[in-house]
Amino acid sequence: MNNEQLEEFRKKIMLGGGEAAIEKQHASGKLTARERIDALLDKGSFEELDQFAVHQEHNFGMEGKELPGDGVVTGTGTINGRPVGIFAQDFTVMGGSLGLTHARKITKMMDLAVKLGMPIIGINDSGGARIQAGVDSQAGYGEIFMRNALYSGVVPQLSIILGPCAGGAAYSPALTDLVFVVEGISKMFVTGPNVIKTVLGEEISQEDLGGAKTLAGISGNAHFYAADEQACFEQIRQLLSFLPQNNQDQPAASAPKEPNKLAKAIGSIIPNDSKRPYDVRDIIRAISDDSEFCEVHEVWAKNIVVGFGRIDGRSVGFVANQPLYLAGVLDCDASNKASRFVMLCDTYNIPIVTLEDMPGCLPGSEQEHAGVIRNGAKMLYAYSVATVPKITVILRKAYGGGYVAMNSKHLGADLVYSWPNAEIAVMGPEAAAKIIFKKDIAEAADQKAMLAEKVKEYAETVANPLVAAGKGYVDAIIAPEQTREVLKRALKLCASKHEDRPKKKHGLPPA
Ligand code: HXC
Repeated sequence: MNNEQLEEFRKKIMLGGGEAAIEKQHASGKLTARERIDALLDKGSFEELDQFAVHQEHNFGMEGKELPGDGVVTGTGTINGRPVGIFAQDFTVMGGSLGLTHARKITKMMDLAVKLGMPIIGINDSGGARIQAGVDSQAGYGEIFMRNALYSGVVPQLSIILGPCAGGAAYSPALTDLVFVVEGISKMFVTGPNVIKTVLGEEISQEDLGGAKTLAGISGNAHFYAADEQACFEQIRQLLSFLPQNNQDQPAASAPKEPNKLAKAIGSIIPNDSKRPYDVRDIIRAISDDSEFCEVHEVWAKNIVVGFGRIDGRSVGFVANQPLYLAGVLDCDASNKASRFVMLCDTYNIPIVTLEDMPGCLPGSEQEHAGVIRNGAKMLYAYSVATVPKITVILRKAYGGGYVAMNSKHLGADLVYSWPNAEIAVMGPEAAAKIIFKKDIAEAADQKAMLAEKVKEYAETVANPLVAAGKGYVDAIIAPEQTREVLKRALKLCASKHEDRPKKKHGLPPA
């Protein structure tokens, strides 16, 4: 084959399923696989692998059928100048369906990425198992799943859902670190609306069942939600700037930047009335470099906020109770969200800054039946086993089990700070007074006045940081205005931290 013939052949392959299929893809509001790769990676950085791979199916009319690239484009490139491995399923070629060659192209790229120590990005847009490939497609999925699991915690794995991702196919993204979805484009579910209607008689649209809003806001299957593909790629570029290339690496340091001048003055954010809400993200923005905050799971379990920022140029993971939603209580979803994020930070050597203001766990039969015990225990587990620098600032309330769970000294926090007005107690003063002064209140002529008096007495005795600081549970009481400087010093101090854990095969986190 001469150069000209090779180029002709290459052009044909690069057209994927052909012009009509590309038009159909564009008409449905989607970019093609190659356009997506070009839009996400640094310009001109993509190096394709296995461009000329051929499919291996023979039955059901597949013999001799040409499937350019076997419906997936794989290769390497750079993002922010740093190498990544990438695959993008090509829906224009037989609906991006997965046969054995398609799967093996993906697993080969994954193996290479791990050997070279770089993140893996998967763009999913596929009709799922190629029906004509039979068990080979199931084998292909299995080989991908196994790598997703074995490479978990070795290199970052990101999944972008840019089309259908149904049935068994959905389990690969679920095994990866972070999942991205796009309004109107992403569709991910295990059984589609037709099967649901047949089996259960229930009618539901694809969008309501597993569209972007559902995935990001209801099920929590997706961590990032974007209005369009370009915005999604921007999220990925931003996110990767906080992560290291692999678990042996440190996140890249940036030039330190003071918080944005427009960020709210930190001391004015928390209202004087301790029952009033505020947006804890204002506190994060008042602390983080350039007031930048890359929020993860922004629209799911909003009563806790997690995400990445920088302090003095160092990447940090923030975990913060959000008084704006459900008063910042811990419930099943919030515990799942926060514990997974703590593990993500620990895996990738990112220090964790915990900002605590929580009145306790959400009570009620619904939560108990949903497993608030095992879900809440995930928080205890994740913080306890994490060995990255772990720093806590108690902003206001630290009640009950929440005090322990939110990276307390007792779970191995390296440094714990408290703002002066913090209330650290077994429970809120009112609930506590009603229990321990039940008799005094019942016997009082003016029960309301007695309750108020006892609430005040309880609050003055225990609900301040001096008791915890006196016992060494809080290392220092700091003014809100000192917080950023204190955290800068603490992170510098912790930079050389090394901590070992008892030797074992692996732990068994609460399910
Ligand atoms: C073979 C497939 C295919 C598949 C789509 N195509 N999915 N071919 N195997 N799984 C082909 C179509 O026949 C069509 O070919 C082309 O791709 C484009 O598909 P359309 O149907 O025209 O596109 P659209 O209308 O957008 O519908 C997309 C879709 C639909 C909703 C994804 O194609 C669909 O329902 N596909 C089947 C989904 C499915 O049941 N997959 C198997 C799941 S089981 P032509 O030649 O007409 O252009 C599974 C088990 C895995 O995944 C287990 C692993 C553990």
